[in-house]
Amino acid sequence: MNQTLFKTEFENIQLLKRGKVRDVYDLGDRILMVATDRISAFDVVMPDTVPRKGKILTQISLFWFKIMESICPNHVITSNVEEYPEVCKPYGEILDGRSMLVKKTNPLPIECVVRGYISGSGWKSYQKSGQVCGIQLQQGLKESEKLPEPIFTPSTKEELGLHDINISFDEAAEKIGKKMAERVKDLSLSIYKKGAEFADEKGIIIADTKFEFGMANNELILIDEILTPDSSRFWPKSEYKPGGPQKSFDKQYLRDYLISINWNQKPPAPSLPEKVITDTRDKYLEALKRLTGKNVL
Ligand SMILES: Nc1ncnc2c1ncn2[C@@H]1O[C@H](COP(=O)(O)OP(=O)(O)OP(=O)(O)O)[C@@H](O)[C@H]1O
Ligand SMILES: [Mg+2]
Repeated sequence: MNQTLFKTEFENIQLLKRGKVRDVYDLGDRILMVATDRISAFDVVMPDTVPRKGKILTQISLFWFKIMESICPNHVITSNVEEYPEVCKPYGEILDGRSMLVKKTNPLPIECVVRGYISGSGWKSYQKSGQVCGIQLQQGLKESEKLPEPIFTPSTKEELGLHDINISFDEAAEKIGKKMAERVKDLSLSIYKKGAEFADEKGIIIADTKFEFGMANNELILIDEILTPDSSRFWPKSEYKPGGPQKSFDKQYLRDYLISINWNQKPPAPSLPEKVITDTRDKYLEALKRLTGKNVL
């Protein structure tokens, strides 16, 4: 129950990438994605894990991928370890619940961010210029206020250790082509709207979120994770009060702790107190329970 996973080292499978959270293994035209219990804040991985976090994220993503299939195909092949290739079998116990076998894609070089509320880097930018990613917003918005319509605010995809940079739609179009940019914008907005509506009924506001898309055999598909507390801002609806930062089900709690101890946000990250870890885990679990009605062991 208290077992946790910081990192995997599967000797006979080729490691493709170790992200901040996921260890990604190469299986030819497929990928084994393992969500560890690592947690990052300000793009730096913490030295401590949040037990079961990788399982929670995987279950939330699987849940949404299914729901969004009618809007956009996704990369999931299976999350049933018994259906994984033979080389994965020795690691079945570690993989169960926290991994997916997915289609290998060529990821688009942008992050598809959608904002339904004004917060985070969007709020900072709005305060300076009245704009977010080149989109002019109405005057007088308060921090965390709901936008009249969700907006598409893409960002670059930077390597480990660097922060993604917000870009305009035109800059995104320069990177991936105008047609493709229009397509991922429309898909991102549709998926966000459907997810936000669903979550709202469960008492969760999805303030903003990030999607990634990739190309597999000329087909555009959703990849990575979707609508999780790592890729989104989740706020409890019952406590929503625009005019400042919100209580949240996501990493904001950890960020607030790190700000309170004046950490300079550069590696190495400080070790986390037990309470910060258990409270963070409880928030992730609560999000899973509210959305899917499930729990994970
Ligand atoms: N189907 C796929 N094909 C190719 N790459 C994928 C696929 N799904 C996810 N990825 C990539 O695998 C990595 C997942 O690792 P992780 O989520 O830990 O990354 P990360 O460090 O959080 O980076 P990011 O913040 O960009 O998500 C990401 O680089 C993601 O783009
Ligand atoms: Mg990621």
